[in-house]
Amino acid sequence: MKILKKIAVILLLVLVAMQFYRPVKNSSQENHVAQFIAETNPSKEVQGVLQNACYDCHSNNTDYPWYSMIAPVSYWLADHVEEGKEELNFSAWESYSDKRKSHKLEEVVEVIEAGEMPLKSYTWVHSEAILTKAQKEAVMAWANQSKVLYQLNRQPQ
Ligand code: HEC
Repeated sequence: MKILKKIAVILLLVLVAMQFYRPVKNSSQENHVAQFIAETNPSKEVQGVLQNACYDCHSNNTDYPWYSMIAPVSYWLADHVEEGKEELNFSAWESYSDKRKSHKLEEVVEVIEAGEMPLKSYTWVHSEAILTKAQKEAVMAWANQSKVLYQLNRQPQ
């Protein structure tokens, strides 16, 4: 019993110490997705879905609920954001080639269709990010349409 108490105290101290190491926040003040919105022209409905269900992990601006500030949740979240942005960052749209943009939009259709995104761990706490059938369809239709635009714009190689 004594040893268990000791372990509990040590764990508690580690948890407290962890609070002093905060990952850098992913938050940009400027209108970070302006270029992406201007080019792909999503409807208000689709913009709302992207905002509520995707930008936290796929843009330069994450909305942090209070519990996300607590380690180790904060580390875990920072990892997701980093990984998500590596795959797809709507705030870095202007840095993508047309080929990459169309490929990313194709992937958006795939992950929405397969129900892979938003991640389950995210919708557990963000129930507003659970997409309805109509929302999924709207996002897929928009992504398919914008994807074609980039393909048409592409210069012959
Ligand atoms: C909680 C964070 C989180 C949210 C919210 C989220 N994603 Fe992701 N997304 C990730 C991570 C992490 C990866 C990379 C690892 C993986 O594929 O699971 C990823 C990968 C992707 C990829 C690339 C998939 C591939 O084929 O490799 C696409 C496209 C994508 N997400 C689209 C979306 C869309 C669209 C939304 C909103 C409907 C969304 N994501 C919401 C974290 C997130």
